Amino acid sequence: MTGETNIINALHGKKIVLGIGGGIAAYKSAELARLLVKTGADVHVVMTEAGERFVGRATFQALSGNPVCTSLWDEQANKGMAHITLGRADAILVAPATANLIARLAHGMADDLLSTLCLARDCPLLIAPAMNRQMWSHPATRRNVATLEGDGVSVLGPDTGEQACGEIGEGRMLEPGILCAALIDAFAPKPLAGRKVVITAGPTFEAIDPVRGLTNPSSGRMGYAIAAACARAGADVVLVSGPVALPTPPRVRKVGVTSALSMREAVFGALPAEVFVAVAAVADYRPATVAAHKIKKSGEAMKLELIPNPDILAEVAALENAPFCVGFAAESHDLDAYAESKRRDKRLPMVVGNLVADGLGGGDNTVVIYDDAGRHPLPRAPKGAIADWIVDHLARLLPRD
Ligand code: CTP
Repeated sequence: MTGETNIINALHGKKIVLGIGGGIAAYKSAELARLLVKTGADVHVVMTEAGERFVGRATFQALSGNPVCTSLWDEQANKGMAHITLGRADAILVAPATANLIARLAHGMADDLLSTLCLARDCPLLIAPAMNRQMWSHPATRRNVATLEGDGVSVLGPDTGEQACGEIGEGRMLEPGILCAALIDAFAPKPLAGRKVVITAGPTFEAIDPVRGLTNPSSGRMGYAIAAACARAGADVVLVSGPVALPTPPRVRKVGVTSALSMREAVFGALPAEVFVAVAAVADYRPATVAAHKIKKSGEAMKLELIPNPDILAEVAALENAPFCVGFAAESHDLDAYAESKRRDKRLPMVVGNLVADGLGGGDNTVVIYDDAGRHPLPRAPKGAIADWIVDHLARLLPRD
């Protein structure tokens, strides 16, 4: 989620229409309107009749600083041409988008101001569904959402959790901060549009017996942040992830794996791609044999024979049609020397290095990018910001079509 300081002026000069449907989540849209105003956007709120039953128009008028429109027949609004003038916005965000509103939009209906201006628009439309979980999973809603996606509408969420009706499931509207960040992302440059990126993240787990294994404390956060940054940059992203407790970023396809061997299989299954980013902390060794049953203690010293795992990154980089490969080097000392030698040995155009004390498991990181032009240190920052810089850097190095 974007922090509030990050959103200030992010949409300066943009005209945004915020459409409010008739759902209880409309109360959260007041906060969304406040955040959108912070982005510097000119925010115009359009409410459906049902939306007005949940939150009064005075609330949105005060927050947005603009008159709130509700009706096609409102003569005050835009000389009776509100559906045309409002439709000439830079984006329309409908939040909450109820099942009924989604159905009407999917069928191109124009029976109130909001649906009419969505039909008359010449700008991107984003919707944030909010409804009971049964309504969300109903085949009619599934069809309508698929139709809208096919028409190029961005569907944000919904989230899973406790619902106003007391049930728990999928259908909650995404939080205002997440919706605001998604709208900002929609305007971000897309340097990886049309490119496929495969990313490994997290630790591997090398089984010793059915209940034990060898692993490491990688949180997966850096790899997940890179996956989210690549998706924001417009890439088609496959994230091959070891066991971690992180939500899958929006518009990212995740393949869950455990061992280095299963990670390797999933990576090769996801290729070909234009870019491969190996962020995973892959175990270099695995037990030579996995005991079929739990090993019982004997009081004696125990020997564990370890054999080398394949080096996934080196194998991918050695392919005839190798993607643009980015490696990570987490070192305890001599970062420059080890990172450069990894870049050379694995024949990588780009390596991201960090000292383990700086990055492993935490929320911030300090990294240095190494490429043919030399070393490029980045300032210490949250992993999300670092990921955006890394993705910008690799996008600049990619061969043009
Ligand atoms: N890597 C990989 N497969 C492995 C080991 C590493 O894909 N079996 C990738 C990592 O994801 C990372 C890079 O290679 O991008 C560097 O990993 P690291 O383990 O630090 O390097 P090694 O080459 O294994 O060297 P060493 O462990 O000796 O430092």
